[in-house]
Amino acid sequence: MEKFVLKGDICYSTDTRTLQTAEAAYLVCVDGKSAGVFETLPEQYQDLPLIDCSGQLIMPGLVDLHVHAPQFAFRSLGMDLELIDWLNTHTFPEESKYADMAYAFSAYLAFVGDIQRGPNTRSVIFATRHVPATVLLMDLLEESGLSCMVGKVNMDRHAPEPLVETSAAQSLADTRTWLSEVAGRYSRVSPILTPRFIPSCTDELMAGLGEIHREFGLPVQSHLSENKSEIDWVGALRPEAESYGHAYYRNGLFGGDVPTVMAHCVWPTAEEFALIKQQQIRVAHCPQSNINLSSGIAPIRRYLDAGVPVGLGSDVAGGANTSIFRAMSDAIGVSKLYWRLIDQDAAPLTLEEAFYLGTLGGGRFFGEVGSFAPGFEFDALVIDDRSIPGRRDLEIADRLARVVYLSDERHIVRKFVQGAAVALGT
Ligand code: GUN
Ligand code: FE
Repeated sequence: MEKFVLKGDICYSTDTRTLQTAEAAYLVCVDGKSAGVFETLPEQYQDLPLIDCSGQLIMPGLVDLHVHAPQFAFRSLGMDLELIDWLNTHTFPEESKYADMAYAFSAYLAFVGDIQRGPNTRSVIFATRHVPATVLLMDLLEESGLSCMVGKVNMDRHAPEPLVETSAAQSLADTRTWLSEVAGRYSRVSPILTPRFIPSCTDELMAGLGEIHREFGLPVQSHLSENKSEIDWVGALRPEAESYGHAYYRNGLFGGDVPTVMAHCVWPTAEEFALIKQQQIRVAHCPQSNINLSSGIAPIRRYLDAGVPVGLGSDVAGGANTSIFRAMSDAIGVSKLYWRLIDQDAAPLTLEEAFYLGTLGGGRFFGEVGSFAPGFEFDALVIDDRSIPGRRDLEIADRLARVVYLSDERHIVRKFVQGAAVALGT
């Protein structure tokens, strides 16, 4: 169905602070895009099929800017560890298993089923360094109807055998094989260059990825300034770089003409903050992961005030939950602690701002995604919040707050990506 109308109680962001709401209103889809939200249905749309969602909430699908698909299987384990120990104890041994396609198939099927049932419609995903399993994950995501960017991970140092890649040359050759296998294969899934983080990538590998970027024009994702020991380690590995961010920048993999999402950005130095701003790096704020791995609290108010683009990430398995509703409530919570404990001038995030981050803030990385303004891609969620016990006499903004804090996948009744219904699964 390419053209249709949804009727219900609609909310969406148009900028960081503004939540638009409309009760018993009409959201029109034409050719996979929003034609706008209307209080009364314009004449020209009156013959379109109407899906009546009266009494239910209609909002843009949520965007997860940072998630590790192969870590889904060990969510919640090792949450008493910090980053480097957690990587060595849980993450690297688990990711080694994706050399086995039977294991990869069952584990990735579980991951894809989970996000299909949940509220996210778009995800920017780390796979593992294995090419066949990464292609399999992309195939499963394409079938699911979700829209995703997926990266074959590059990592040629400081990881155990057999996960570590044997050389920069091998890692780069595998990346090219992967890119040729997926070229033209999908309508909703696309590749993204994915150096794991500076400690995992030799200078030779980073330089080669810079070349691949220039050849293919792909976007880039990685991790930045998550944990203090990690940052000290990068300082020792790349002494010529003014900051952790400058190490990516020196290899041409840090914003500017290269659409780049960097997870965490918890501990920017002044120089790094200025570079993030100058290069318009999209910060993937992953509050649950930052709590679980005791990494710290990212200065999101400072980024927003400086005009740095920010979205939200689950960072599964640093975060235990894939839902970006959970990331919204955690983002508000940690911003309150930051304000109370660290900087009394950094006002906590409001519900409207957190909702913006999880929809339009992340959606912008995909283009015109994450809002219902005319021309935006038609990614929508319909939520029946009437089965959340409690007061019924609430305005849409307060109903949204209850959905953010209290809903789960049972409340999701419909989900659309680019105007196509996504099967919610069983
Ligand atoms: N830094 C490098 N790899 C990882 C990872 O898998 N998760 C997190 N949270 N940080 C990382
Ligand atoms: Fe991560």
